[in-house]
Amino acid sequence: MIQALPLDVAQVRQHFPSLALEQNGQPVVYLDNPGGTQVTQECIAAITDYLTTANANTHGAFLTSARTDAFLTEAHAAMADLLHAADPREIVFGPNMTTLTFAMSRAIGRTLQPGDEIVVTALDHDANVAPWLMLAEDRGCVVQMAEVNTTNGTLDMDDLRAKITPRTKVVAVGYASNAVGTINDVAAIIGWAQHVGALTWIDAVQFAPHGPIDVQALGCDFLACSAYKFFGPHLGIVYGRLSLLESLQAYKVRPSDNEPPGKWETGTQNHECLAGLVGTLHYLEALGHNAQDGATSQFPMMTGRARSLHVAMAAIQAYEQTLARRLLAGLVGLPGVHIYGLTDEADLARRVPTVAITIDGHAPRALAEALGERGIFCWDGNYYAVTLMERLGLEQTGGALRIGLAHYNTASEVDRLLAALHEIVGG
Ligand SMILES: Cc1ncc(COP(=O)(O)O)c(C=O)c1O
Repeated sequence: MIQALPLDVAQVRQHFPSLALEQNGQPVVYLDNPGGTQVTQECIAAITDYLTTANANTHGAFLTSARTDAFLTEAHAAMADLLHAADPREIVFGPNMTTLTFAMSRAIGRTLQPGDEIVVTALDHDANVAPWLMLAEDRGCVVQMAEVNTTNGTLDMDDLRAKITPRTKVVAVGYASNAVGTINDVAAIIGWAQHVGALTWIDAVQFAPHGPIDVQALGCDFLACSAYKFFGPHLGIVYGRLSLLESLQAYKVRPSDNEPPGKWETGTQNHECLAGLVGTLHYLEALGHNAQDGATSQFPMMTGRARSLHVAMAAIQAYEQTLARRLLAGLVGLPGVHIYGLTDEADLARRVPTVAITIDGHAPRALAEALGERGIFCWDGNYYAVTLMERLGLEQTGGALRIGLAHYNTASEVDRLLAALHEIVGG
């Protein structure tokens, strides 16, 4: 249970320049966060700083190259702290989660035999399904898909558990659903996978902006996320257990590093975005540092930056629960509304504040357009959670409207959304 910690939202908002954007004389409301969050001033400044003082390729015998090497070292160390990885070499950067998952799953595939099984879920974003389906096709493996409870958007844990057998070699599962917001009990799932000796690939893209992640406590083999979903620039990140990153054979060019993380970071990295990521992590570190009073019992296994980052994410999680409560309570009053996911007050800790709804008589796209005209940004469609949308019976009818809160959103923004929805549907 996350204890409530102070989060000064007015102060938080000062760090996000794009929150000042106006449409028709009114500030816009960013509720499109699951598709990508706004970035911090620290991120923007770090990108500018990198490009003006350090722009070069790596490992050269001159100033800007040495600075680039230093930026990249710092990016690995800071990201290891955010995920509480034991070693910065366990952090692999790449263009985005999808590309990294395709690349690294192929390397894992070299260890698989025909008939080996891979478990995926019907709740996941396709970036954690399609790479495994295609790998299975290439290697003659069998894919088992764990089902969802369509009544509340949770994983069918009995089905998942039954599908993890001694034949299972990989379990690929999301930390939180990018469509309906459910947080999965990944610790339990990792335990089941470990019991049969299967590798675990956790898609934490949707969870990362909403709560603390501790890969050591989880015991996962791989965990992927994307910086642009947690207030940073467009790049992807994979944590991998060091022994696996060392032993698995990467698809790479011959002269490049043979050691992790270099052997997995193919080609030239997006140096300016890595600098920007460090900027965002500075922001989060300071947020956690300021919130640490009264939180001294939290994260006793961590020190320094790792602890501050985790305190920040716990403060964000606690604050977002208050927003989610307000949003869900307000949505229930809309005529003809259907909420796909956990809605009970008691379940707030089991979901991130990403809420999918439909409203009878209104296509999701039309709702998103009407909100967009009012300066309120929401996504509609399936957001690549294709199997879930099929199971919910929404795939043929435009999916759902997705309202995705982040820690820079406010209660008054939630109220503005609710008032706009009432106006649109005439409630
Ligand atoms: C849960 C989840 N997984 C994976 C992805 C893909 O991430 P990326 O855009 O970094 O490839 C997304 C993006 O929306 C997502 O929400």
